[in-house]
Amino acid sequence: MQATIVVLPGDGIGPEVTGAAERVLRAVAKRFGHSFTFTSHLIGGAALHAGQPPLPDGTREACLAADAVLLGAVGDPAFDTGSSERRPETALLQLRQALGVFANLRPAKVWPGLEDGGAFKPAVVAGVDMLIVRELTGGIYYGEPRGVAKDRQSAFNTMRYSRPEIERIAEVAFRSAAARRGLVTSVDKANVLETSRLWREVVTDVGTRYPDVTLEHQYVDSCALLLATNPKQFDVVLSGNLFGDILSDEAGAVVGSLGLLPSASIGGRGGLFEPVHGSAPTIAGRGVANPIGAIVSAAMLLRHALGAEPEADAVDRAVGGTLAAGYRTADLVADGGATPVSGSAMAQEILDRVVKPPV
Ligand code: IPM
Ligand code: MN
Repeated sequence: MQATIVVLPGDGIGPEVTGAAERVLRAVAKRFGHSFTFTSHLIGGAALHAGQPPLPDGTREACLAADAVLLGAVGDPAFDTGSSERRPETALLQLRQALGVFANLRPAKVWPGLEDGGAFKPAVVAGVDMLIVRELTGGIYYGEPRGVAKDRQSAFNTMRYSRPEIERIAEVAFRSAAARRGLVTSVDKANVLETSRLWREVVTDVGTRYPDVTLEHQYVDSCALLLATNPKQFDVVLSGNLFGDILSDEAGAVVGSLGLLPSASIGGRGGLFEPVHGSAPTIAGRGVANPIGAIVSAAMLLRHALGAEPEADAVDRAVGGTLAAGYRTADLVADGGATPVSGSAMAQEILDRVVKPPV
């Protein structure tokens, strides 16, 4: 197989973790006899520092032409006070829209060995295996009108969802659930918001086409609580853009670290694959960042953009094997027999297991 992969390292820890993920993809190509071509482009704060807009034209065009895009993170405190056009995050929103990737898949499962790795009781989190299906190109992130009043005494955003937008993301959730444990939990705030009432109505309609999938509705506040108290009950969690953003960070805490979570944004051209964590500027450049979110995102790239299922499984197994062997980056609790390692050492352990899987 031949494939063109655009790598967007971005800001903060982005370059470290995409570097690790790209090495893994190169190793996969070698082991399975594929030819992957990688090109790297500026995005976010890195582009702004170079005197370009956050999403330079060249970056957008390369992404539109690629088979898949692997992104690190955007976000840089240097631009925190800028207007939208001068913010790193704007690049990501524009790129998601340009690619039309409306479906953001954020799997969150507890890896064997990491059950006692976080703030939650092992008995509560052991066996957690959920998929957050987050709508990614609509809702309050994109709704117009938006703005700040001239006198800066008020500001406003618009949460807006159309029936077709809800329908297509609900389809993704139900299809995913049908291939998993058959439960969709749809998240909204229908007790308060009109968009949520339409959301609930459309999701219920779509659900009638999937008689084998059970549909439950949860208000987002209640869902946030249940995610912390009984996360095992969730299979597919379907949500709009904003609620999915918030709940997926919480899911990071449930599985032990946000640094573990991957994501795939699909449904449009190619696909955009990025770890859920941000640019983490305070630890950038020190080689300590956990590369697993980015590496498992590369596995999702293989699976969803390239249809390379055995290759994706090989990467997942290498990650699982490394964690089972006790290697722990600083964001993961290293108990008794565990081996604390840097992010680069973790990446090397995973890479070794991709190159030569232990028998
Ligand atoms: C995410 C991030 C982005 C989002 C930011 C960086 C724009 O938090 O992918 O979860 O809010 O979607
Ligand atoms: Mn987020």
